[in-house]
Amino acid sequence: QEVKVFAPATVANVICGYDILGFALDRPGDEVIMRLKDEPGVEIVNIEGDDGLLPRRAEKNTVSASVQNYLKQIGQPDLGIEIELFKQMPIGSGLGSSAASTVAGLFAINQLLGEKLTRKELLPLALKGEELACGYPHADNVAPSLLGGFTLVRSYEPLDVIHLPVPPDLHCAVVFPHVDVPTRDARDMIRKNVPLKGAVKQWGNIAGLVSGLFMNDYDLISRSMEDVLIEPTRAILIPEFYEMRKIAMEVGALSFGISGSGPSVFSFTKSAELAAEVAEAIKYQLNQNEIECNTYISSVN
Ligand code: HSE
Repeated sequence: QEVKVFAPATVANVICGYDILGFALDRPGDEVIMRLKDEPGVEIVNIEGDDGLLPRRAEKNTVSASVQNYLKQIGQPDLGIEIELFKQMPIGSGLGSSAASTVAGLFAINQLLGEKLTRKELLPLALKGEELACGYPHADNVAPSLLGGFTLVRSYEPLDVIHLPVPPDLHCAVVFPHVDVPTRDARDMIRKNVPLKGAVKQWGNIAGLVSGLFMNDYDLISRSMEDVLIEPTRAILIPEFYEMRKIAMEVGALSFGISGSGPSVFSFTKSAELAAEVAEAIKYQLNQNEIECNTYISSVN
């Protein structure tokens, strides 16, 4: 018996919602093939597409460590499981690479064993996978990768995740410049205390963005997508950040900002065609500065 599953890449934070907002992309993502084996223990038998960067030891890799946690939780820690991981997305890109592996692993084991847990019950296990990957159990990548669409982490303790509606024409352009920004470092560098004035602006923007999603109000979405707390610090790590913003907005994007902890950036647009134009314009700017990049176009819901 064998299952094959796909878990999508995700854009976390969505500019103003640090650690609470995220949405799933159509592509890229991770694929996992999983099957039962006779000998006890979880084993990774094949990884492709990671350029040899990911750990092969079961307890070190998020895909297999998450499966081990799942098996413990359902009281079958010695079950024999074989995993093949096909990474179809870049690592360290700010597109939720570790989240996609974790979610693919958890979704696959749950399918293989007859859906013993609901998707919402898988979520706390997915958070443990994120903790292993970057030291922090943030939910804004795993929640949309697991549940699909656009999600809001209303609370961490207790975990309360809400699915948000998305206007029908909302699309997104994602550009991954080939520079290294580890999530752990990008989290350690930000201030732990925020000024009240900045916080007021930020929660106004979060409420505005969520209202805009509910009201199909593209203009409200556009003017709410501003991050005064985190972006000024993290933008320093991303080459051509402000130049890329200028270009994206000139081409007609609704927004421009960092995807997750970067270095990927993304823009919302009102059509797939416009998203492609934005991605192309940003790519041109990066290439002019001798920076290679990948681009992805996706719907948002
Ligand atoms: N919310 C997380 C962060 C996302 O910004 O560090 C990491 O992908």
